[in-house]
Amino acid sequence: NGYFTYDPGFMSTASCESQITFIDGGKGVLLHRGYPIDQLAEHSDYLETCYLLLKGELPNADQKKAFVDAVKNHSAVAPSVANLIQTFPKDAHPMAVLCSAVAALAAVYHEETDITKEEDRDTTAFRLIGQMPTLAAMTYKHLKGEDFVDSNAALEYAENYLNMTFGKAGDSKVNPVLAKAMDRIFLLHADHEQNASTSTVRLSGSSGTNPFAAIAAGVSTLWGPAHGGANEAVLSMLEEIGSVDNIDTYVDKAKDKADPFRLMGFGHRVYKNFDPRAKVMKQTCDEVLAELGLENDPLLAIAKKLEKIALEDEYFIKKKLYPNVDFYSGIIMKAIGIPSEMFTVIFATGRAVGWYAHWDEMVSKPYKIGRPRQLYTGYTQRDYPA
Ligand code: CMC
Repeated sequence: NGYFTYDPGFMSTASCESQITFIDGGKGVLLHRGYPIDQLAEHSDYLETCYLLLKGELPNADQKKAFVDAVKNHSAVAPSVANLIQTFPKDAHPMAVLCSAVAALAAVYHEETDITKEEDRDTTAFRLIGQMPTLAAMTYKHLKGEDFVDSNAALEYAENYLNMTFGKAGDSKVNPVLAKAMDRIFLLHADHEQNASTSTVRLSGSSGTNPFAAIAAGVSTLWGPAHGGANEAVLSMLEEIGSVDNIDTYVDKAKDKADPFRLMGFGHRVYKNFDPRAKVMKQTCDEVLAELGLENDPLLAIAKKLEKIALEDEYFIKKKLYPNVDFYSGIIMKAIGIPSEMFTVIFATGRAVGWYAHWDEMVSKPYKIGRPRQLYTGYTQRDYPA
């Protein structure tokens, strides 16, 4: 004891050097490879942002086309993995199914992947980014007891995801406002430096394991309600509140230190001013609600009132608790008709590129296995009873 720095929650430990994403939580700044997230949300799209995160620069037109084509060409899921998804009970949580399906990709591709070769790592990126929406849609179809819908190369990335989710074989029509909102959800979740799931992927990958196995560990970590599971928890909370008349009671519960209740979708470990992703997401949320004529939906009315109270209430202002990205993304996905158990699966779909970019950054240079130490507080040595 006493030899190691004790930093529970890694509040002040930098675990690596990275050139991918910069966050200044105090100022509400999020940059990918130097570009502000709001500018990317406005002018770029998800796949272009994937290229940027992976390669460090925005692609030119030819590079972008080649990248988009490669992702599309790798979007079909192997029959063994599709069959695996169908073996799960229909009421299995989609995140549990997704963890297994992503790990199963290691079984499909392990023998042909040499992670020391950049070409193989690029192919792995195409497979991961290409197949995550297919897997996400499959987990939904399985939940609903419907047939899988194949990926359609004529559609854009987010459009294709919505078609595989809500369409039937042969369909190819998706509302463009909803497709744009979905693309933004993927883009705004694409990376967030060393959060719990990304740190998990790096730690797992530092043993030299298969990249899909490392990403599956990230999917597991994302599932928790303090991380990606917050978007699902937002919806459960809104349902529990049940009516705008009950909001004050729940706000009081959130302020009561003796009560473990927290307002889901509020607060952030790093952003102590505002979440720049939430600003863009709020705008998309308003567009989607207007498009679908859902401004008066009762659950969404609770969300709107809660947002207003939290933004004006002294407790939340003092503790710097603002609506985070998951508050608005949960509302958007609910409006689109996506069941709340699927929300974290969608977060994982967008975040897959971030996990991969960090893994790739780590393994493309010399690296050490991650091996934290501890402060031991247990028994000193004692003898086994004779
Ligand atoms: N509702 C009510 N009070 C809260 C909340 C909340 N959502 N979040 C934090 N607080 C209070 C907390 O009680 C504490 O009060 P005190 O100083 O009197 O003890 C203070 O604010 C600081 O909280 P903390 O737990 O020490 O802060 P943290 O940085 O460890 O936790 C957090 C950050 C995101 C886990 C937390 O704010 C939270 O649980 N939020 C709700 C869950 C959520 O929305 N998570 C999604 C995060 S964004 C997506 C992602 O990155 O995955």
